[in-house]
Amino acid sequence: MTLAPDAVRTMFDRIAPIYDAMNRVMTAGLDLRWRRLTAEAVVRQGDRVLDACCGTGDLAVADVRAGGDVTGLDFSPRMLERARRKSDAVKWVEGDLLALPFEDGSFEAATVGFGVRNVVDLEHGLAELARILVPGGRLAILEITTPTGLLAPFYRLWFDRIVPLLGKVLKGGEAYSYLPASVRRFPDKEALAALLRAAGFDAVEYRTFAGGIVALHTGTAR
Ligand SMILES: C[S@@+](CC[C@H](N)C(=O)[O-])C[C@H]1O[C@@H](n2cnc3c(N)ncnc32)[C@H](O)[C@@H]1O
Repeated sequence: MTLAPDAVRTMFDRIAPIYDAMNRVMTAGLDLRWRRLTAEAVVRQGDRVLDACCGTGDLAVADVRAGGDVTGLDFSPRMLERARRKSDAVKWVEGDLLALPFEDGSFEAATVGFGVRNVVDLEHGLAELARILVPGGRLAILEITTPTGLLAPFYRLWFDRIVPLLGKVLKGGEAYSYLPASVRRFPDKEALAALLRAAGFDAVEYRTFAGGIVALHTGTAR
C-alpha cells in the first residue's frame, strides 16, 4: 500500500496526539537515545541544521542540544502544533521535504528521523536534502530497517502483530496498521546507502541500533 502525499499528511495529523506515547512504548524509551546519537553524529556547535519531517520535534530538540541553530520542517500541522509546545529554540516551518523552501546551501547539517520512509518520492527527497546542504554538509538519517539475524522472527511478530494491535486499542491509532507495510517496502540498509550516493552524498556509512532494527545512515554532501 503506497499512500498519496495528502493521505500521509492526514494520517500524521490523526496520529499526532498519541505519536510520542507510541514511540516510547514501541521502543521502550530507546528512541530518545537514538535521536541524541543521530544529532551528535552530524551537528557541530553553531551549525545551521534542518530537521526535516520533524513531526513532534524530538530530533530537532536533540539537534539544539548538540549545538545547532535548528529549523524543524514538517507538512503536518497537527504534528507541528505539538513540536511548537516543546521548544522556542527551534524555528518550526510547515513545508514539504519534496520542495524545501530554502536556498541551495542553506545548512551545514540535516537530520531526518523516521521520516524518509513516509516520503512518496525518496530519491527526490534525498536530492532536496543534498541541495540545501553546503558542500561538505552532513546528513543523518535515522530509520527503521529490517534485521536479518536472530532478531528477525521477533521483529516480525512485533511489527506485524503487536504494533498494529496497539494502534487499535489507542484512540487515533488505526494508522499504525500502515507501519509494517511502510517498513517492508523501504529499501534495506545497503540499498539506502546506494540511494544516498546516487543523490549526491559521499562518505556514506551506517550503523545499527537495537540489534539491527534501527539504522543510522550518515553522508557528506558533494
Ligand atoms: C514518523 S514521523 C517522524 C517524526 C520525527 N522526525 C521523529 O523522529 O519522531 C514522520 C513525519 O514525517 C512527516 N512527513 C512525511 N512526508 C513528508 C513530506 N513530504 N514533507 C514533510 N514532512 C513529511 C509526517 O508529517 C510526520 O510528521
